[in-house]
Amino acid sequence: MKIINLISDMQKESLAARLAKKTVGFVPTMGFLHEGHATLIEQARKENDIVVLSIFVNPLQFGQNEDFDAYPRDIARDEKIARELGVDYLFYPTIEEMYKEDRTTLITVEKRVDVLCGKKRPGHFDGVATVVMKLFQIVMPTQAYFGMKDAQQVAVIEGLISDYHLTVQLVRVNTIREEDGLAKSSRNVYLTPKEREEAPAIHQALQLGKSRLEQGASISETKEFVENYIKEHTASEIDYVEIYSYPNLKEVKEPRDGESLILAVAAKFSRARLIDNIVFSYTKGEN
Ligand code: PAJ
Repeated sequence: MKIINLISDMQKESLAARLAKKTVGFVPTMGFLHEGHATLIEQARKENDIVVLSIFVNPLQFGQNEDFDAYPRDIARDEKIARELGVDYLFYPTIEEMYKEDRTTLITVEKRVDVLCGKKRPGHFDGVATVVMKLFQIVMPTQAYFGMKDAQQVAVIEGLISDYHLTVQLVRVNTIREEDGLAKSSRNVYLTPKEREEAPAIHQALQLGKSRLEQGASISETKEFVENYIKEHTASEIDYVEIYSYPNLKEVKEPRDGESLILAVAAKFSRARLIDNIVFSYTKGEN
């Protein structure tokens, strides 16, 4: 595995691979790798000649009161994991390398961001779209792997790819969970033991909510049920429980059979804000 810090070096390697007609699978991350990331890397490894992993904690996507400084980092451990998973190139730039002082432009995301995390974190997806666009230009991947744990991020990047006619193919990877259903996240380490015990209730609430909706509950009844279930089973403070069409993230009054929906939750525990969702094709009368 080659570790690359400079944009120009990464571009040289990628260009050589693309000219040699090799497929380049790309997994962008902010590091502190866990099994969620590992699954993305493994899938990229199976499906491509070359695998590039990037680790960059992107300051542009953190708000003023968010956890940029406290975001967990452990590059030595990440390096070892990446090597074991068969990554070819680890792209690990500094902030100065990625953001030159004389930056002229910034990508603004206009749709799919007035809801869910976008509403709570203004500017967050502008930061994500900007860094992902830059990373795509640096790595020049044929395929890029994104987790559905961050389903709104996938919706935004799919919009970005379409708007700018990018040739990269986005691969959606299902959310990887702990055995008890908690979605794997770098932020889970900030849960107290008691919160860790309670947290799987989020996923249970989503599954039960989906069943209720398909059994005929209204959108508002379903949201209320999910909210109450999480309140009863955890001491977290609920940020939102929402249902939208997916990936457009538009309001749904009454779901149609076969319509793709997202049921999403964000809940604040004492030191971690957790998000989770399920995306499914609505089937009336299911389970
Ligand atoms: P990060 O939070 O490190 O996540 C990197 C990728 O891993 C994302 O595509 C995310 O959805 C995926 N991932 C995380 N936990 C997962 C899980 N439990 N199951 C499946 N996939 C999971 O997302 C980012 O970084 C950044 O916003 C980034 C895209 C790198 C831009 O800075």
